[in-house]
Amino acid sequence: MRVLLIGSGGREHALAVGLAADPSVDHLVAAPGNPGIAGVAELRAVTATDPAAVAALAVEVAADLVIVGPEAPLVAGVADAVRAKGIACFGPSAAAARLEGSKEFAKDVMAAAGVPTAGYYACSSPDEVQRALDEFGPPYVVKNDGLAAGKGVVVTSSPEEALAHARECGRVVVEQYLSGPEVSLFVVTDGTAAMPLMPAQDFKRVRDADEGPNTGGMGAYAPLPWAPADLVERVMTETVEPTLAEMRGRGTPFAGLLYVGLALTPAGPKVIEFNARFGDPETQVVLALLATPLGGLLHAAATGTLGSHPPLEWHPGAAVTVVVAAHRYPGTPRTGDVITGAERPGVIHAGTARNAEGALVSAGGRVLAATATGADLAAARAAAYALVDGISLAGSHHRTDIALRAVEGTITA
Ligand code: AMP
Ligand code: GLY
Repeated sequence: MRVLLIGSGGREHALAVGLAADPSVDHLVAAPGNPGIAGVAELRAVTATDPAAVAALAVEVAADLVIVGPEAPLVAGVADAVRAKGIACFGPSAAAARLEGSKEFAKDVMAAAGVPTAGYYACSSPDEVQRALDEFGPPYVVKNDGLAAGKGVVVTSSPEEALAHARECGRVVVEQYLSGPEVSLFVVTDGTAAMPLMPAQDFKRVRDADEGPNTGGMGAYAPLPWAPADLVERVMTETVEPTLAEMRGRGTPFAGLLYVGLALTPAGPKVIEFNARFGDPETQVVLALLATPLGGLLHAAATGTLGSHPPLEWHPGAAVTVVVAAHRYPGTPRTGDVITGAERPGVIHAGTARNAEGALVSAGGRVLAATATGADLAAARAAAYALVDGISLAGSHHRTDIALRAVEGTITA
């Protein structure tokens, strides 16, 4: 099978590594890709958010399967344009990707489907925002309605900061605060059949001990030794099945990757957000442990045959990934710094590029994700940090506590 992978981040590098290892994938093209992905795929140029351009490329490379990594192309209708050419595509339609593209739409679907989630108000005026903040009380949660690359959410005890974020965004969703450890559950679905992957935990805040502003994600690990044994089954029953049924009922079935972001609250797992694609950097750890060939799995979801796919198989042990971020990230990152130590197995490229001299340089906020497996979480964590220690990038920073509390056994759900 010939596969075209769309995107250029760490998630796409992790997907590319998984696809390249699948014997049923005989040719892998990635567009636009990055220098890490170039190690396992043929790179082509494309504007990933241009549906006609991606569809034309899929035809040109004779793709049997197109996989769309990031959310912006999905929301723009890239999967629809590819399918219109008669080519199988892993990724939801624009109509279904609204589960990620609009927080208000996602809340409306959850309410209709009876999915456990935080109470909320959709607000467009400062008065409405103020009333919602007063009703819920601190900590305040204010979310940009649209796509914001993981940085549209402010959680704060300061009413001024909450109001200021709402003013900047225009239309927002103000939510009740959910307390409890967070879990990311990825579900592969063809719209009807659904297969959960292994739950993972992401670290959203930029600094150790969950301090500082939110980011796209600073590290991740799996499995979650502290998670309740019935977690996945419960989320499939209470959240995933009703959401997929609601989307089918609306005539816009969701097929692709449903990312369920959860808080394990004292009242049970509640949805923090839906995304319409694999999460980054959780993908790096989940795929490092997946033994089932990735291309075949995604092809089954893209062709409506997931119901007859064999059960998933997993490697034993654990995986940890640590993001190495550029100077000033999550503010405007400095780019163009030379990187060394990044061309090793397990070092996943996110924001990297080649300069005119061919040297590897930083080109984004999250530059690399050092990913390792081990017999247990402690071993995987040590191996991931050993990879980080071998990387040199001027001004870079990373968290030193990824998976630490899980190793110490101090997380309770
Ligand atoms: P989101 O983009 O919706 O995932 O939000 C980013 C991060 O903000 C989440 O991973 C949580 O850490 C936090 N967050 C979002 N919504 C809530 C909520 N209702 N209660 C507590 N924390 C939240
Ligand atoms: N890891 C968070 C995200 O992909 O949105």
